[in-house]
Amino acid sequence: MNVNSDDDRSGSRQRPKSSAHQMRGVNAYWRELSDAEIASGQHRELVGGMWQEVGRLQMEFLRDQGLAPEHTLLDIGCGALRGGVHFIEYLRPRQYFGFDINESLLNAGMKELGERGLHGRAPNLAHNGDFDLAVFGVNAFDYLVAQSVFTHLYMNQIIRCLASAAAVMNSQSRFYATFFEAPSSAYIDPIRHQPGNALTFFDRDVFHYSFSEMKIMAEAAGLRVDYVGDWGHPRSQKMLCFQTPARRMRAPA
Ligand SMILES: C[S@@+](CC[C@H](N)C(=O)[O-])C[C@H]1O[C@@H](n2cnc3c(N)ncnc32)[C@H](O)[C@@H]1O
Repeated sequence: MNVNSDDDRSGSRQRPKSSAHQMRGVNAYWRELSDAEIASGQHRELVGGMWQEVGRLQMEFLRDQGLAPEHTLLDIGCGALRGGVHFIEYLRPRQYFGFDINESLLNAGMKELGERGLHGRAPNLAHNGDFDLAVFGVNAFDYLVAQSVFTHLYMNQIIRCLASAAAVMNSQSRFYATFFEAPSSAYIDPIRHQPGNALTFFDRDVFHYSFSEMKIMAEAAGLRVDYVGDWGHPRSQKMLCFQTPARRMRAPA
């Protein structure tokens, strides 16, 4: 099901199935911004600031990985479209899909799109908090991205996200996601990451994980993961690439 409707050139959204309140006690994204807060640009800060830098970085990174205008892209936890505005401008109309648990951030994203005259690109946006990726009716996305999302989630929530993503991926799909890296598993002490000075924690927002822990999550969800590492993120988030498991070649008889 394509969630765009003809009567809304700016792209329509699914009715909310769940609310951002699920994230209360997990991360800061339970709080819906008011229209006045959006008008004053507070959505840009809520998603982490560095609006231009991190927006462009996502676009340039995915283009370097082969994202082309005809591809489909699913932006998991797209927020206020910091990366989305660049992807939507680059991709052919209707090829961008984004969803987020926080409806006010999606509203802010629509405003950002309007200011750039990009409503006509007809992005597909959905509001849900349970990683229901089937709402878009796409069998397999070419690219998926989750920038600065796993950094705000518990392990079981990440596994849910990965399992949902696995259901909308094929052997060609590439799912890039960022994380704050811990040097070893069950790394209990807080970590100060440089450059950027971000402070992360084992069991509260903002979260860090070891690559081994990310591998366990990927396997639990039926995916494999490769370490991409440094991709120029100003707060030292590292990049991962999830793919469906490689098929084993049958040994000749
Ligand atoms: C740091 S912001 C990053 C937003 C966007 N990816 C970007 O780079 O600007 C994290 C985003 O994850 C979203 N998020 C957090 N938990 C979520 C969940 N369970 N399902 C969907 N989105 C979620 C938040 O609402 C927020 O928009």
